[in-house]
Amino acid sequence: MATQIEIVRTVADLRTRVRTWQREGENIAMVPTMGAIHKGHMSLVRQAKQLADHTIASIFVNPLQFGPGEDFEAYPRGEARDAALLADAGADLLFVPDGREMYPEGFATTVHVAGLTEGLCGASRPDHFDGVATVVAKLLLQCLPDIAVFGEKDYQQLLVIKRMVRDLNIPVEIVGGAIVREPDGLALSSRNTYLSSDERETAPLLHTTLQQAAHEVASGLALEPTLESAHAALEAAGFRVDYLEARDPVTLVPLSGNVSSARILVAAFLGKTRLIDNVTVPPQS
Ligand code: PAF
Repeated sequence: MATQIEIVRTVADLRTRVRTWQREGENIAMVPTMGAIHKGHMSLVRQAKQLADHTIASIFVNPLQFGPGEDFEAYPRGEARDAALLADAGADLLFVPDGREMYPEGFATTVHVAGLTEGLCGASRPDHFDGVATVVAKLLLQCLPDIAVFGEKDYQQLLVIKRMVRDLNIPVEIVGGAIVREPDGLALSSRNTYLSSDERETAPLLHTTLQQAAHEVASGLALEPTLESAHAALEAAGFRVDYLEARDPVTLVPLSGNVSSARILVAAFLGKTRLIDNVTVPPQS
């Protein structure tokens, strides 16, 4: 049977609960989400639980991070199901603000992280990271947890958030959570539900191809020919590749030639669904 969880919907109520815990000397971890909860989010909550006395999850489908023609309207929503899953994973409190609570009339502030946001997903989704940085800055300042956990599947997002928190002296430690995959390697994502059954069969090739490229680079092949053949393999399988690049794992500076350490990142469309994934060089398995 699904576990119950307390839900607060206003910043004032969130702060009252957080202050009570903090006065008792207990620390807090936060897991921000846009709902459509899956095992990847649940693993972030479990990780947060190991790191703090209390775990707060939030659900807010943030309109600022969706571009025109993207899936803001279609994004899967279902608070009761999400709340039950987050509670099962061990969250103690759920913050579910509505649009007005998050962006009141006259809201006029944007957080922009220069540099890190410019390539990769930032190239094809121009305002996306401003929307992410703005909402995450707000969520962190609304809650002021000790720790916040974000998934490594959105690797560029994780680095953008770490940089923003450092630059703005937001007193929260940002922790990355490992990518959770289906048994066939497909990274869990709320957008996987958009895939047709044929597309779902093809989708794991994204990870297989990245892993193969990571092994090749680790064994001494140069990045350019390796990424070129990975790109061709993906296109031949039916993907439309948005980007496939190797970057420095900390600075996201583009890499070339022979490298011993890198992150290979991809975004590719299968039909209308845009999937992202990334792997480390040397590969983890
Ligand atoms: O990764 C997500 O689900 C969102 O980008 C986040 C961090 C919750 C901000 O809306």
